[in-house]
Amino acid sequence: MDCTLRPWRLSDADSLAAVIGNPKVQANLRDGLPYPYTPENARDFIREVCAAPPGSLYAFAITARGRVVGSLTIYRQQNVHTHSGELGYYIAQECWGQGLATSAIGQACRLVFAQSDLLRIFAQPFGYNTASCRALEKAGFTHEGTLRQHAVKNNRVLDVELYALLREDCPRP
Ligand SMILES: CC(C)(COP(=O)(O)OP(=O)(O)OC[C@H]1O[C@@H](n2cnc3c(N)ncnc32)[C@H](O)[C@@H]1OP(=O)(O)O)[C@@H](O)C(=O)NCCC(=O)NCCS
Repeated sequence: MDCTLRPWRLSDADSLAAVIGNPKVQANLRDGLPYPYTPENARDFIREVCAAPPGSLYAFAITARGRVVGSLTIYRQQNVHTHSGELGYYIAQECWGQGLATSAIGQACRLVFAQSDLLRIFAQPFGYNTASCRALEKAGFTHEGTLRQHAVKNNRVLDVELYALLREDCPRP
């Protein structure tokens, strides 16, 4: 199945809340997300990303067959890291394993490199998150190393994998 990226709309709030209001999705993300995740939480997120200063973040709804099936964001870093963007994403559990994350990551990187001065897009999946690591590898990211014991999530000490894609290694759109 292929997917499309588009900007968020406030009318996506119910769909977004359904995708991320799932403990199996949240278990692989950083802490700080509300649980349960309500449509009002989703509206807050959508308002925030729509109001962000241009170029500070790139946020996409991932859609397939006309419905929202995930989210992808690239956050510009600060200070000397301002030409780096951190990538985060998630896909609705019922759609896992169909190539959606791989396709969304590839599309987003091509678009954002074409529209910005970012030189590097990186992601930091937990070490056990094989699906995420595999999707990044399939999208052309290089594994740069393992950040040992770099996270504690749900009382587990976790290694974190560092992946990056450079502008010069990304195909043009
Ligand atoms: C990680 C996630 C985004 C992957 O999305 P997806 O659309 O299922 O990913 P894709 O289908 O594009 O690719 C996943 C790949 O991992 C493989 N995979 C999945 N689980 C695996 C496992 N346990 N061991 C080995 N490979 C696995 C799949 O087979 C596929 O590779 P293949 O095409 O070579 O067979 C999705 O599982 C998710 O949203 N998880 C919760 C949130 C999350 O982890 N976000 C990322 C944080 S860094």
